[in-house]
Amino acid sequence: MVATWLSVACGNHPRDPHRSRTTWKCFHFQVCFTCKQKKKKKKKEKEKKKGVLPVSLGPWVTIGQSVVTGLAGPERFLRLQHNRNARLTGTPDFFYREAQRLGYVARSAFKLLQMQKQYKLIKPGASVLDLGCAPGAWLQVACQSLGPLKSGGVVVGIDLKKVKVPSLHCDARVRTVCADVMNLLKNEARVLSPQGKGFSVVLSDMCPLVSGITTKDAALSVELGMQALDLAIGGAALSQPNNINDEELDFSSSGIDRNGILQPGGNLVVKLLESEDLRDFSQLCKPLFKKASWFRPKATRSSSREIYFICQGLL
Ligand SMILES: C[S@@+](CC[C@H](N)C(=O)[O-])C[C@H]1O[C@@H](n2cnc3c(N)ncnc32)[C@H](O)[C@@H]1O
Repeated sequence: MVATWLSVACGNHPRDPHRSRTTWKCFHFQVCFTCKQKKKKKKKEKEKKKGVLPVSLGPWVTIGQSVVTGLAGPERFLRLQHNRNARLTGTPDFFYREAQRLGYVARSAFKLLQMQKQYKLIKPGASVLDLGCAPGAWLQVACQSLGPLKSGGVVVGIDLKKVKVPSLHCDARVRTVCADVMNLLKNEARVLSPQGKGFSVVLSDMCPLVSGITTKDAALSVELGMQALDLAIGGAALSQPNNINDEELDFSSSGIDRNGILQPGGNLVVKLLESEDLRDFSQLCKPLFKKASWFRPKATRSSSREIYFICQGLL
């Protein structure tokens, strides 16, 4: 009898003719055993396909689930709702608490962790340039992604603010420079790379001081994004026939050197605020890389307009 009632709840199975009003109410909160069994099976199959996640990502990741929260479906929805309420009431959200628990200096660590999980941008021994690195959460994730000390690699962070290298998750391979990226020449950036050979990964999480005026903030973020692109690929973009607005993309302003600091085959991540210019930005980048796509991490607040453009394999 109970099994029949539970079956009714999902709507996929024959209704029990003996149901009364009171019990019907309960059905909405019951779970159909038959469906649950099927779902469990499907979930297990998915887990098998996805494979096991690296242990180093921490205990908050479980196999086959959302990389950051470990949640899926309604549970994830409830978590997002909870986070939204938490923000409104000023209480720390899930990612903030997780960052604290795992020793990351900011919740933004989870954004790069998710990118790393999905795109494997930073390989062991890579040379990483992190533009807009304060307070240092991406430095921590980038350093973790380099693997053990013996595999080498380097992480250089640049920010307007002076940044102390976080003691947790960072080692001697990480250093920071205080500078305005908008005034940085490619030659100056290249000097920071190992043997001056450039970087295999350039990350830009830079964002302007948000004024609240959507168009102004978006325009400033495109400026920062363009500067990151200019540093990374240099004048290469100018030679693209698809180049849409040469005036806006004034590459010549950043120095005589037109060769970017991103090594061939390298990866570039640029944060931008959503606006109409994003299409132009992607059109400009796409021909220069093997793969390029937009990505919105789960740790991004639902109210935020930020989005990341991920370019893989500089041609
Ligand atoms: C969202 S925070 C970066 C967070 C960082 N990725 C982390 O995980 O800790 C954006 C940073 O960009 C920096 N920034 C903005 N404009 C910049 C510029 N022109 N040059 C250097 N840094 C800049 C800001 O100072 C700010 O610290």
